[in-house]
Amino acid sequence: MGTGKGYGKTILFGEHYVVYGLPAIASALGSYTTSEVKVVEGKGWTVDDQRPATPGYKKKKFNEAMQSIANVIEYLEVDVVTQKLEISFAGDLIAASGVGASAAQCTSLARALNDTFNLNLDDEKINEAAYEGEKAYHGTPSGIDNTASTYGGLIWFVKNLSGGKNTMDLLQSPKKMPLVIGNTGITASTTEVVADVRRLKEENPKKFDQIFNDYKSLAAEAKKALIEGNITEVANLMNQNHKLLQEITVSGKINDKLVSLALKNGAIGAKMTGTGRGGLVIALTENKDIQEKVAKAIEKEGFDAWKTLIG
Ligand code: MEV
Repeated sequence: MGTGKGYGKTILFGEHYVVYGLPAIASALGSYTTSEVKVVEGKGWTVDDQRPATPGYKKKKFNEAMQSIANVIEYLEVDVVTQKLEISFAGDLIAASGVGASAAQCTSLARALNDTFNLNLDDEKINEAAYEGEKAYHGTPSGIDNTASTYGGLIWFVKNLSGGKNTMDLLQSPKKMPLVIGNTGITASTTEVVADVRRLKEENPKKFDQIFNDYKSLAAEAKKALIEGNITEVANLMNQNHKLLQEITVSGKINDKLVSLALKNGAIGAKMTGTGRGGLVIALTENKDIQEKVAKAIEKEGFDAWKTLIG
């Protein structure tokens, strides 16, 4: 038997833009998914998914999850003809749209298979295997989710569009910044939303070029602000990033509602995070008291809210 874990993540800057080779910044969460693999007689594999989840999430993502598990097994060339794998998933990461749940599942499985079969994989190989799994969720994953899930920490990430190595820098901020994650409870399809953005970009190349340019300078400023621990500037840039996500139509009404609610209750910056059109929003606060207040306000409206620190 072998085990492994994969962290959840939150994208602080650059979801969707990252698919097109623009930089993004993600922070791994303290919560993770665990996987256990048992080898028994027979062939093929079974899955027991015990992860806590937003209602409806597992059902909506079932086919993609099964395909992603198949991809990871195949990529690591694990024999499922003369032996059978009993795979289980658990952990404290709540599987929801936007939290990197699929990547955390793929990473934990790659690590558990590595452990079970002594494959001697380093993090780079684990990350590659998890990326193969992510392809089941949409054809052109940027790789940011599995990278954050594998390495943890605060990550500056740029996808290499020519198929070479992606750029990944671990960032250090001198300050831990309190963040609230609000869950709309709606599970969006990353495949559909990413495809929609691609279509809109093809239909409006000029508009998208302008937005992409605006985003590019924003990302560089965000990196600087995080490294300097300038929380006011990070927050300000989060607000701007949310607007740019609205412009490419990926923020749903429900995301905008939670963003406004967070700002009204004292957050200094807030944006949707991840796929959008549901999923999660994040809100940055100046201190833990305000973090508590924002989380409570979101919960009072009937949504889940989690508290974490980034940086
Ligand atoms: C999903 O967590 C993030 C997206 O940018 C897709 C990707 O990066 O592959 C929407």
